[in-house]
Amino acid sequence: MSKFQGFESNKKRKIANDIESEQSQPWVEKYRPKKLDDITAQDHAVTILKKTLESANLPHMLFYGPPGTGKTSTILALTKELFGPNLVKSRVLELNASDERGISIVREKVKNFARLTVSKPSKEDIENYPCPPYKIIILDEADSMTADAQSALRRTMETYSGVTRFCLICNYITRIIDPLASRCSKFRFKSLDTSNSLSRLEYIAEKESVLYEDGSLEKILDISAGDLRKAITLLQSASKLSSYNDNNKITPIQLEELAGIVPTPILDEIIAKVAGKNVDSIIEYIEKFSKDGWSGTSVIDQLHNYYITNDMFDTKIKNQVSMILFDTDTKLTNGTNERIQLLNALQSIVISMFMQNSNNNNNNSNNNNNRNSSSSSSSSSSSSSSSSSSSSSSSSSSSSSSKKQMVVIR
Ligand SMILES: Nc1ncnc2c1ncn2[C@@H]1O[C@H](COP(=O)(O)OP(=O)(O)O)[C@@H](O)[C@H]1O
Ligand SMILES: [Mg+2]
Repeated sequence: MSKFQGFESNKKRKIANDIESEQSQPWVEKYRPKKLDDITAQDHAVTILKKTLESANLPHMLFYGPPGTGKTSTILALTKELFGPNLVKSRVLELNASDERGISIVREKVKNFARLTVSKPSKEDIENYPCPPYKIIILDEADSMTADAQSALRRTMETYSGVTRFCLICNYITRIIDPLASRCSKFRFKSLDTSNSLSRLEYIAEKESVLYEDGSLEKILDISAGDLRKAITLLQSASKLSSYNDNNKITPIQLEELAGIVPTPILDEIIAKVAGKNVDSIIEYIEKFSKDGWSGTSVIDQLHNYYITNDMFDTKIKNQVSMILFDTDTKLTNGTNERIQLLNALQSIVISMFMQNSNNNNNNSNNNNNRNSSSSSSSSSSSSSSSSSSSSSSSSSSSSSSKKQMVVIR
């Protein structure tokens, strides 16, 4: 009896543990698409892969595209649909960047798995799944493999192609050596657009009973820029924090803080200081900004977005500001002092705007002068053109004004 009770309580404990582990699971794993049909926005890749499911004839594959767009989820869903949950364990080898993948691993682990004969599916598996007669090796984040290891892989791929298919996954296809890329069918995964990502976030928020203020999910998508993994992770972190809010709702401002980006009011203030062109006030503000611990890299990124997308600025200013911010970003990545770099960047932006304004003013006054001189050119041309000593006609006066403009730009 007591034994039986013990068994019951063990069972209860196991169920409780299962529920707990389900609850503590990261949402990116919990909501990872289980079937190819659940993959959103990658219609091209999914349609072709579904066709290969029907014929069960798979080529070597190369998935490439930005992070968080469904590459890993797609191959995991595909292997599950090909082999079913049981057979998948013996038929699929998954190696990702956290595994050592130098040349020795390709020689040993990959080769050993590739040369194994394929395991036999059970009768049940054969009835329910295509169970094609080969194994699949997934090399996630293959662009972090050395060129030597990639070369070694090329031979393994060829030798064992009778019983093994490879799926290479990477962010940058250019980092995969040509002989390897040319042996694979390529599938491009595009950055997810707002509507697709939004419906996925709404679905997860509903399932997890997350409350949020208007504009919060849009803010998450804004911050994560097409990376659904980043978006889901941010939603999960924000949901934990929101329980401390009065109305238990996630707020857009809270999201900005969580993501480590500079809140809009502070960014607006920096932009206003730059527009005010008062260097002392910029220095004072940046001192405070740095003391408050905001990230310099993030504010550079946000300023870049602001200046580049704003129609108020002409192309020349946009180019100059881009160059300044690009330079600052590189220096920050190399570990220089954030406060000094930020000050330098903002002052440089002020200077380029100042130059642009004075340039415009010069142009305007030159235009006025030209207009005046052309109206009086027939009578008193001598005094107006005296500065350009040898000039004798109105065309030369216009060339002198364009020279002036060039000097100012330099
Ligand atoms: N196209 C997609 N459809 C549905 N969910 C996606 C998609 N892309 C990403 N996700 C979500 O983001 C998480 C990370 O996706 P993942 O496949 O690991 O991206 P990648 O391998 O391209 O970096 C998944 O758990 C899933 O919840
Ligand atoms: Mg991945």
